[in-house]
Amino acid sequence: MAILAPSILSSDFSNLAQQIRLAEMGGADWIHCDVMDGHFVPNLTFGPLIVKAARKSTKLPLDVHLMIEKPNNYLEEFAAAGANHLIVHFETVIHLNRTINKIKELGMKAGVSINPSTSISVLKYIMEYADLLLIMSVNPGFGGQSFIPNSLSKVREAVELRKELNANYLIEIDGGIDTKTIKPALDAGVDVFIVGSSIYKSDNITAAATELKNIIK
Ligand code: DX5
Ligand code: ZN
Repeated sequence: MAILAPSILSSDFSNLAQQIRLAEMGGADWIHCDVMDGHFVPNLTFGPLIVKAARKSTKLPLDVHLMIEKPNNYLEEFAAAGANHLIVHFETVIHLNRTINKIKELGMKAGVSINPSTSISVLKYIMEYADLLLIMSVNPGFGGQSFIPNSLSKVREAVELRKELNANYLIEIDGGIDTKTIKPALDAGVDVFIVGSSIYKSDNITAAATELKNIIK
């Protein structure tokens, strides 16, 4: 069964605990947290403080997606805040092998994310060491953008690479996932569906999550 990971980016932060609970009631498996610094991406969101607040609100794994420059400076802080998974962008890290090892040493699952313009082939010598591969299917920075169709080819390539390496990382897709795009992504081989606005901008958060969960069951 595939995993549903609602992203709190589009939620109402004045009532974060309730917003997480509503998604949980709809079958959320993980909670996705989008950290943005206004440099790597043209938007600012939140840091470890909100991850800590999310930690207090749920027992579900927190899947923390760092869209920040110099992520190495903050790995300990996110571990202390209660992140279970820490995902760094390939484009922000020079010594990726070292970073992945450090995240794992801190007791978290380690993930690598790539922008829409970055090829899967650059990950050939790292993915046997990582637990998660997050494929951005929109340009990172904002919720509510349209799914970039060629992301599906990348998912297929990520499945092939996993076979070739005899690795066992999970493939996550992030951006523009809704009731139309989720099935083609599932068929391409996605394991983890990150969903922001389709859940949190809907009139009924629980029902929206349930509908998506039922498609990937
Ligand atoms: C975008 C973030 C996503 C965002 C997805 O940069 O990484 O996690 O929440 O939002 P939707 O599902 O609205 O595209
Ligand atoms: Zn994300």
